[in-house]
Amino acid sequence: ATMAAGAVKVHDHWSSRMGFIIAAVGSAVGLGNIWKFPYMVGQSGGAAFVLVYLACIALIGLPIIVAEWLIGRRGQKNPVNTMVELAKKNGRSRNWALLGIGGTLAAFLILSFYSVIGGWAVSYLVEAGTGSFSGIDKDAAGALFNGLLADPAKLLLWHSVFMALTIGVVAMGVSGGLERATKILMPALGVILLIMVGYGMTTGSFGAAASYLFTPDWSKLNSGVVLAALGHAFFTLSLGMGVMIAYGSYLGQDINLLRAARTVAISDTVIALGAGMAIFPIVFANGLDPAAGPGLVFVTLPLAFGKISGGLILGVMFFALLIFAALTSSISLLEPAVELLEERTPLGRVGATVVAGLATWALGIAALLSFNEWSNVLIFGQNIFDLLDKLTSKFMLPLCGLGAIVFVAWCLDRESVRKDLGLGTTGFRLWNLLARYVAPIGVLAVFWNSL
Ligand code: PFF
Ligand code: NA
Repeated sequence: ATMAAGAVKVHDHWSSRMGFIIAAVGSAVGLGNIWKFPYMVGQSGGAAFVLVYLACIALIGLPIIVAEWLIGRRGQKNPVNTMVELAKKNGRSRNWALLGIGGTLAAFLILSFYSVIGGWAVSYLVEAGTGSFSGIDKDAAGALFNGLLADPAKLLLWHSVFMALTIGVVAMGVSGGLERATKILMPALGVILLIMVGYGMTTGSFGAAASYLFTPDWSKLNSGVVLAALGHAFFTLSLGMGVMIAYGSYLGQDINLLRAARTVAISDTVIALGAGMAIFPIVFANGLDPAAGPGLVFVTLPLAFGKISGGLILGVMFFALLIFAALTSSISLLEPAVELLEERTPLGRVGATVVAGLATWALGIAALLSFNEWSNVLIFGQNIFDLLDKLTSKFMLPLCGLGAIVFVAWCLDRESVRKDLGLGTTGFRLWNLLARYVAPIGVLAVFWNSL
């Protein structure tokens, strides 16, 4: 990097091109795909949500991934400093820094509840390993999950374990062993999902699940569903929170942003749809409620693990891999705040990680209490968990993502952007159409409609 460092240091790059893509896929694929996507589909009534979601990924998510990486790569710093510097260089308002600040704040808020769900996965790893699922029926599976939710001490324990793992990994630095592990463990997660899809085919409800997921009943569509689909597209691709800006800041000039973004979007979508195809056959075969909410994956898959031969091993492997996938996402959620503290305070990497991690952990306690002791504490009519989730997914992420795409499409020198993207004239026209009009107008239209 030839950039003047000034008071702010310019940091290292990824170990390799592959390392970057692996880390980005690691950030994208996580609880959002396996825990959140299926229950949101269920709460929104099925295929209409799925199709809108897919359109949001392709038309809005994809260009915004590219925009965030492009910003990060140009700035080479934390998202806040990057936005300040790029705005100044291009003669734009300092207020663009709000984008970095809003994103970093969103990542912090998300991690607080994400870690609670990561804790559920750790708890279920233990249940799987101790044989709790064997021969379990739907009532027992529901009771097991509700028992966990009702027990604040248990939730706190597993939330703390998950957060400690996250802090440990982040404190050790970006690349290395995690890259190698991700390359093996992500595909392994895909394979287990495939096995569970195979199990779904034996339940007799596979057809019902497939049509639920892919044959739209457009009467189910309303502005709330569209906003949920848009918000989830941001959440699942790790967009609008400075994470991809932060990851892009470690990026060298040699990578093709468009191709890398396509890889991330496709991997993420395949895992989400795979999770849907694994879970909904079990939902319908057992007469469960698709709209049951955040517990959906935790009350369905144990039924399958409890029935099939080798289910114990499979269950252990599944929850271990889910925890791993969640960790590669949670470390990316902690990264922006750590980068900011590291570059702005004398704390150093480890100190910054511990401070940011403990703050997140503390907020997570409020989130986990909203399932029990504090279930009556409502802010704007929502409990704390729902508030954190909705405030970020439906508001902060789309807004910050919109800012990123508008900044790249309208505030940077066009020719330099074309070069950064490595596009010819025709390709760049298409990019401009998406980045200047389709994506921003799409986000604004959804917002407008749901107000
Ligand atoms: N994309 C992750 C998932 O789908 O689980 C969650 C996530 C990670 C959201 C990183 C935001 C983020 F910055
Ligand atoms: Na995801």
